[in-house]
Amino acid sequence: MENFRAVYFLMLFLLVAAVRCDIPTTLDGPFEPVTVPFDLSLRGIAVDLPDTDPRVRRLVQGFEPEQISVSLSATYDSVWISWITGEFQIGYNIKPLDPKAVSSVVYHGTSEYALVHETRGQSLIYNQLYPFEGLLNYTSGIIHHVQLTGLEPSTLYYYRCGDPTLQAMSDIYYFKTMPASSPQSYPDRIAVVGDLGLTYNTTTTISHLLNNKPDLVLLVGDVTYANLYLTNGTGSDCYSCSFPETPIHETYQPRWDYWGRFMQNLVSKVPMMVVEGNHEIEEQAFNRTFVAYSSRFAFPSKESGSSSTFYYSFNAGGVHFIMLGAYIGYDKSVCGSNLNQKIDVNKTNVKERLKLEVLEVWLSVMVMAEQYKWLQRDLDSVDRSITPWLVATWHPPWYSSYKAHYREAECMRVEMEELLYLYGVDIVFNGHVHAYERSNRVYNYSLDPCGPLHIAVGDGGNREKMSVEFADEPGHCPDPSSTPDPYMGGFCATNFTFGPAKGKFCWDRQPEFSAFRESSFGHGILEVKNETWALWTWYRNQDSDNEVGDQIYIVRQPDKCLVSPRVKGILFAAI
Ligand SMILES: [Fe+2]
Repeated sequence: MENFRAVYFLMLFLLVAAVRCDIPTTLDGPFEPVTVPFDLSLRGIAVDLPDTDPRVRRLVQGFEPEQISVSLSATYDSVWISWITGEFQIGYNIKPLDPKAVSSVVYHGTSEYALVHETRGQSLIYNQLYPFEGLLNYTSGIIHHVQLTGLEPSTLYYYRCGDPTLQAMSDIYYFKTMPASSPQSYPDRIAVVGDLGLTYNTTTTISHLLNNKPDLVLLVGDVTYANLYLTNGTGSDCYSCSFPETPIHETYQPRWDYWGRFMQNLVSKVPMMVVEGNHEIEEQAFNRTFVAYSSRFAFPSKESGSSSTFYYSFNAGGVHFIMLGAYIGYDKSVCGSNLNQKIDVNKTNVKERLKLEVLEVWLSVMVMAEQYKWLQRDLDSVDRSITPWLVATWHPPWYSSYKAHYREAECMRVEMEELLYLYGVDIVFNGHVHAYERSNRVYNYSLDPCGPLHIAVGDGGNREKMSVEFADEPGHCPDPSSTPDPYMGGFCATNFTFGPAKGKFCWDRQPEFSAFRESSFGHGILEVKNETWALWTWYRNQDSDNEVGDQIYIVRQPDKCLVSPRVKGILFAAI
């Protein structure tokens, strides 16, 4: 019997080893570009859950907590617990709740029978106001954020949240802290997903993701798609083509509450970190933008030296994550501004004026070059002997070959790519394009063994449906003047000056930077194995849990891609 068991386990080991050997590594690259043809039958139901769906209904009474979530602070010893109490209001005459009316208390401990620690936090409400005739205003429930500190690494904690004086406490939930930062310790699985929305496809993505048992979730922008709705709750698959006459780009904020309720099952136990996408802009009265995003989520901005909810950083074991904002200033300096395409100030259209006002806000941030300076400081502070892996995340991809949003983020790439390259960023995660694409290692449109891998997972399943056309297909190359996003502050997309696409705006075949692309809904899982090897797996919604859509070992080469000399090189060059 013992011999049989030994042979069985030997065969199992050899089988696993053989399968693992089949997985390509970035050391085998650069790879010839691969396109998996789109299967129309797999498009899925890109239809939003209605407000009658039990998964989005309010199930609590009075001031009991709902929409409970966990997010990380900058280091393993601290997390944020967030939740909402009270009901939102939407109408012509709304009366905001008093955030002081309900306390923000969390009890936590390492045993569910001994929640011995009490922590208090802060509460707020936000309004989404549309001072236009016929449009409805929104005021949120009371949003609570409580920061727990003094936590041990890789430890399971139980918690309850709410207001004990109102007898409005939640059930007991639990979360696990990140490992302490070191080259030997990493979260087992980090889920990466983007452009989620709240459709039936989204529900498939999230249940698939839950089955993969992540320790951490990265949401790379475009959260609820509440801005595909008018304030009266009328929805559309495409806002700009369906509601051209509205005086301001409306949103239906209850979709945020629906999303928070649906997501609670995941994010009350698995920390989620979010960075803003264009669907979070949500402009409203008084020149305000990103209000729901900045109010509902907790961010380790202060802890990571940032003064903004739009960019911040944190550690998860031996990985340092940098979250960047693509819809606020990212320029190195005023002189480096690419803001050379401006909206006509003579336009009287309210929407155009509002865009101009948003640009002014963008400019005010840009003048200070705050984000770029913060990024320099943050990169400079990273000790790769403690966090060997450096992962950067923002919403719109720099390297995408799909027609949708083609080269839309080119100004941001021009400003920031060199800095990220010099500091040896290993992986970039993006969303925005509703499909999957993995690049070869690339820098400045050239294949480079020390450039990061760019992975776009904007395929979470939102209502706007999938991106299926490629810019390199005949007739699909967009007019360059049509490519900039007015919220991204400029126009930088010129014809290529070198390489196989020299003199053209688009390639005539799948670009060499694009290693693998496929239009399908799904999500990815990053498993960092040690200080040089990490396994990336992309899962498609239509597949079983064990089937993979794309898989590769991402291998760092710190000896070959030395960070310090490259940084010093640019510093010397600047002197
Ligand atoms: Fe987007």
